[in-house]
Amino acid sequence: MTRVLIHKAKSLKGEFTPPPDKSITHRAIMFASLAEGKSIIRNPLMAEDPISTMNAMRALGVEIIEQQSSRAKEQQSKDAATMSCYNNELIIYGKGLNGLKEPFDVINCGNSGTTARLISGILAGNPFFSVLTGDDSLKQRPMARVINPLRQMGAVISARQGDKYLPMAIRGGSLKAIRYEMPVASAQVKSCLILAGLYADGVTEIIEPQRSRDHTERMLRSMGAAIEVEGLKIRVRPLSSVLSPVDITIPGDFSSASFFIVAGLIVPDSEILIKNVVLNSTRTGLLEVIKKMGGEVRIENMRDVSGEPVGDIYVRTASSLKAVKVGKDLMPSMIDEFPVLCVLATQAEGITEIRGAEELRVKESDRITAMATELKKMKVELKEYPDGIAIKGRSSLKAAQVDSYNDHRIAMSLAIAGLIAEGETVINNPECVDISFPGFFSVLEKLMKA
Ligand code: S3P
Repeated sequence: MTRVLIHKAKSLKGEFTPPPDKSITHRAIMFASLAEGKSIIRNPLMAEDPISTMNAMRALGVEIIEQQSSRAKEQQSKDAATMSCYNNELIIYGKGLNGLKEPFDVINCGNSGTTARLISGILAGNPFFSVLTGDDSLKQRPMARVINPLRQMGAVISARQGDKYLPMAIRGGSLKAIRYEMPVASAQVKSCLILAGLYADGVTEIIEPQRSRDHTERMLRSMGAAIEVEGLKIRVRPLSSVLSPVDITIPGDFSSASFFIVAGLIVPDSEILIKNVVLNSTRTGLLEVIKKMGGEVRIENMRDVSGEPVGDIYVRTASSLKAVKVGKDLMPSMIDEFPVLCVLATQAEGITEIRGAEELRVKESDRITAMATELKKMKVELKEYPDGIAIKGRSSLKAAQVDSYNDHRIAMSLAIAGLIAEGETVINNPECVDISFPGFFSVLEKLMKA
């Protein structure tokens, strides 16, 4: 077992660029594979999850060439650990919507729910046999949410334990358009059905209960797909011509930035500039919570990068934070920020209640129980609910030996908690940060030293 030690920080100072966005990288790789011709993906996230997507598309016959930009080579010689995931390039020779080939073997999606769920929409539209599997965590995550609607569209699918979990086998082809009211807000399910809709025989209508991240709609539209969005309703028409190849630059990941936004607010005497971050409002619910708590986060240098709003985030220590209630309405736009919001809540005066968060139980780990168990070890007073957590602030945290549950976002959130804990925090199995943020601990060290 590996472990990392975190000491209480006196201050955090400096600037950094978070790794490229994970969600947008997955989509760029998949959609470029479905386009006709050569796409260039600049600055993709070369971390474990998107690599699962890349391997999956290769298994379906797509040629993907990885290269480093000259800037990446320069930077890597300076700081290999921190820089390895920046400024790479992928050249993807798309096969067109109907040019994929039957995979020779089972496709392993690793730890990546986005790979498994989105690709199942593509496989459902293709007239061949394929099997998806994943690691022990992914094999316990719900797949019925994509299997049920894809079956209604006509795909033949069976999966483990009564068609609930990976491995799952898909025989796709000739899909019919459906109208589908999604029971849970999920960008992964929505994207799966949009992709299947491109292959269907009419207009597919998807209704979300709440708006989830919209990177799929933005990118596919820019490639020529007919996708209309009207409130919570999305209409997808079958592709009438081809998807155009893209030359796209992936901006920094807000979810990766969020660990340092919280750290900047709660560590004394801190000032951090986080550069080049996606600020799409379907992702930035955490900023609304911070504002309600009384924390100050300044957005600078707003611009458009490949169809996504991007800016720099300036954060400094909050003089005081007050507890807030966070309900279901905000959850989809801060779904991945729940663990680090729990850490922030320990420093807000009063009881912060986060409810309507039951989806967090079926992420890479049960993130409600994971945060409740580990923060309790650090002497935080809290109460766990089936759909969330209540956390008492301001707590003085005590260092403890804590576990990552092999979940990247739990490992990083506990590292941030360690920065304000008295003593030496030990995090077991921290290497899972490589799923989304290779170099996380180097960035942390750099900001502590500055
Ligand atoms: C993602 C959507 C979210 C999020 C995940 C990435 C995506 O999952 O938790 O990390 O890229 O579409 P759900 O859509 O299942 O909530």
